[in-house]
Amino acid sequence: MPTWLIANWKMNGNAARVRDWAYRVNQSLAARPSGLTVVYCPPSVYLGDAREASRPSGQLKLGAQDCHQEKSGAYTGGISAAMLADKGCAYVIVGHSECRSGGDCDARVLAKAEAALAAGLCPIICVGESRAQYEAKETLAALDVQLMPLKALPVGGALIAYEPVWAIGSNRTPTTAEITAAHSHIKTTLGSSVDVLYGGSVNPDNAREILALPTVQGALVGGASLEVEPMRALMEIVAAKRVGT
Ligand code: PGA
Repeated sequence: MPTWLIANWKMNGNAARVRDWAYRVNQSLAARPSGLTVVYCPPSVYLGDAREASRPSGQLKLGAQDCHQEKSGAYTGGISAAMLADKGCAYVIVGHSECRSGGDCDARVLAKAEAALAAGLCPIICVGESRAQYEAKETLAALDVQLMPLKALPVGGALIAYEPVWAIGSNRTPTTAEITAAHSHIKTTLGSSVDVLYGGSVNPDNAREILALPTVQGALVGGASLEVEPMRALMEIVAAKRVGT
């Protein structure tokens, strides 16, 4: 049953848009309790704005898009997991492909996930194959390389997001059979209790089919989360699935 919707705004928006989105999405959640958890990940400088705007009922959860693996120190530009927790975050994305391409190796992704857990945050750990690996039918082998270090984690406190790199922002998605195979593989590797989300070009047109898959516990959404109405449509789709309609 899908439970999670993660809105990853990447480097988009401004304080006014963050406040407006957080207020309106929080209102929708408060008006229609559904067992759905919506996690809003605006740029970190706007976390305080999102928190203020969603304070009336606080249904909307907050997440960051990345964190530093160290607790504190001479890391210019770094933001520690404890700082994020201090600003009201409960979640943090780690290992996004856009951060992996900027230098985050598997060991650093593990260190960031461990730092998040130590600060009381739930890490949303992204894994996924490149286009070349997909075309060479090496998806599961690529996942194995990224998943192996994560076996050291208590996965009950983490979420995994399967995000094929080639599907991000491309309007292309794997087939439902391919998503099921990848998700099943992740659950076999890390334990069946881990919640696995799908991310990569999710929108209100394709979400019904993707979120109907029994191995998909939610979605990590980039572009389609930037406006309130498509986000509300995604929330409706998840809510409908949760009551089995
Ligand atoms: P997208 O981004 O929905 O725009 O493809 C997803 C992500 O990168 O998390």
